[in-house]
Amino acid sequence: MTPNCGQKVAFFLVFFTVVSTGSGWVGVNWGTMATHQLAPQKVVKMLKENGFRKLKLFDADETILAALMGTDIEVMVAIPNNMLDKISNSPKAADSWVNDNVTSYLFVGGVKIKYVAVGNEPFLKAYNGSFAKKTLPALKNIQASLNKAGIGSKVKVTVPFNADIYYSPDSNPVPSAGDFRPEMRDLTIAIIQFLYANNAPFTVNIYPFLSLYGNEDFPFDFAFFDGNNKPLRDGKALYTNVFDANLDTLLWALDKAGYPDMKIIIGEIGWPTDGDKNANAKNAKRFNLGLLKHALSGKSTPKRKGTVDLYLFSLIDENTKSVAPGNFERHWGIFEFDGKPKYELDLTGQHKETGLTPVEGIKYLEKKWCILDPEITDFDDLAGSIDYACTFSDCTSLGYGSTCNNLSLQGNASYAFNMYYQVNNQQDWSCDFSGLAIITHKDPSEHNCLFPVMIAGSSSLLLHGGLSHILKKALRVCIFAMLLL
Ligand SMILES: *[C@@H]1O[C@H](CO)[C@@H](O)[C@H](O)[C@H]1NC(C)=O
Ligand SMILES: *[C@@H]1O[C@H](CO)[C@@H](O)[C@H](O)[C@H]1NC(C)=O
Ligand SMILES: *[C@@H]1O[C@H](CO)[C@@H](O)[C@H](O)[C@H]1NC(C)=O
Ligand SMILES: *[C@@H]1O[C@H](CO)[C@@H](O)[C@H](O)[C@H]1NC(C)=O
Repeated sequence: MTPNCGQKVAFFLVFFTVVSTGSGWVGVNWGTMATHQLAPQKVVKMLKENGFRKLKLFDADETILAALMGTDIEVMVAIPNNMLDKISNSPKAADSWVNDNVTSYLFVGGVKIKYVAVGNEPFLKAYNGSFAKKTLPALKNIQASLNKAGIGSKVKVTVPFNADIYYSPDSNPVPSAGDFRPEMRDLTIAIIQFLYANNAPFTVNIYPFLSLYGNEDFPFDFAFFDGNNKPLRDGKALYTNVFDANLDTLLWALDKAGYPDMKIIIGEIGWPTDGDKNANAKNAKRFNLGLLKHALSGKSTPKRKGTVDLYLFSLIDENTKSVAPGNFERHWGIFEFDGKPKYELDLTGQHKETGLTPVEGIKYLEKKWCILDPEITDFDDLAGSIDYACTFSDCTSLGYGSTCNNLSLQGNASYAFNMYYQVNNQQDWSCDFSGLAIITHKDPSEHNCLFPVMIAGSSSLLLHGGLSHILKKALRVCIFAMLLL
């Protein structure tokens, strides 16, 4: 499609960049909540080979930033929610964050840091307003620090919001009825005002998968971009997919707040491949291929034309993410835990099924697995052992609708034991379970259910920061309890 040349200069520049580079505005989120990290250097090489030009991080990990030095990849670094309190209270803390995590990388041959995300979905309903009063003061302090460092016009602040910050009422569920959540409305608009004044974008995370997950009656095809569904009508506008309807709900809310031309970035969008009946590689590929074609076409939504700047969620599976939202949480990666692509994807938005390049040079542990001893016939103690193994590893593929949901009880136990064994780097002590477990050299994988072998030579959870805080705490309590015995 040729864009309408009467449109804004900004849009023209965006379009021009897309055309001239040929790779568009597709970025990706790189989260690191995993027991075993791939070497950042190898991942960065893979990002370059696949043509990812933008990257969003959830902190400012120095090993990742070191690996990005000298590349053209544009980076969004982030201040985690648990730092908002400190940074909102202390301009000095904001100064040192900016100094350590932004300014010190901005040299020729350094890292192209373009954005600082202040918090991550801080107004999420589930946080009960814990960060409500901290976010804007933290944002202001960070902007002041950037200005002081003389980089305020080059590095932009933003706040990634969850799409639950806006809604349209049940009585009139159309985008044009959209507005911000009443109890957060004033705080949200104050942030928007500040971002707007600083020429900074509004960032929103949109998840069509969750529309489907949360609602049995949701029309399946409406989650995708093929237009196979009966369109939703809103005045003159016709909606053929939930992404457009969702984004336009935000645009209408911004209109009402007086910011019709606010720049928007989609901070997270994607589709998981396991942990739910709708989470699989086929749907993920259908969604992401359709999304990229749609977002880069320049047609965008009924309410706003132009390409959409987005970061896919996510790069690599993360086996220690909280499963509170659902088992699918650990399976958002376009790449498996070991850096293998799960499906084809065309990052230029031309809907070609291009094979992605894997992370190369991955070494694995020995080809061996921990399983339930086939001689065991008394299953009385099994449930406790499975529970234990799953608490300290990742059994999300065993759940309903997942790749390993059809295993026998023996299969379930073996799967759990193996996950625990692999996460513990195949150490002998981790394949015991009161004598119920044995080591085998025969791959127990069946059908779609993969019994993985862990990658070697990566930082391991028990020593380094990869493990989630909750798990760490649980582990400490557990070790403490063992000392008491
Ligand atoms: C810089 O970022 C890292 C990683 O997110 C964090 O641990 C560190 O505390 C930050 N530095 C400062 C001075 O806040
Ligand atoms: C929010 O409130 C709910 C219900 O009272 C509670 O279960 C949950 O733990 C709270 N979450 C946080 C982050 O405080
Ligand atoms: C599991 O088995 C059921 C019934 O045989 C079948 O419908 C389903 O597709 C199977 N699921 C997987 C993930 O293999
Ligand atoms: C295996 O585990 C899954 C998930 O915990 C459960 O849904 C399933 O019923 C179990 N299968 C058997 C045969 O116990």
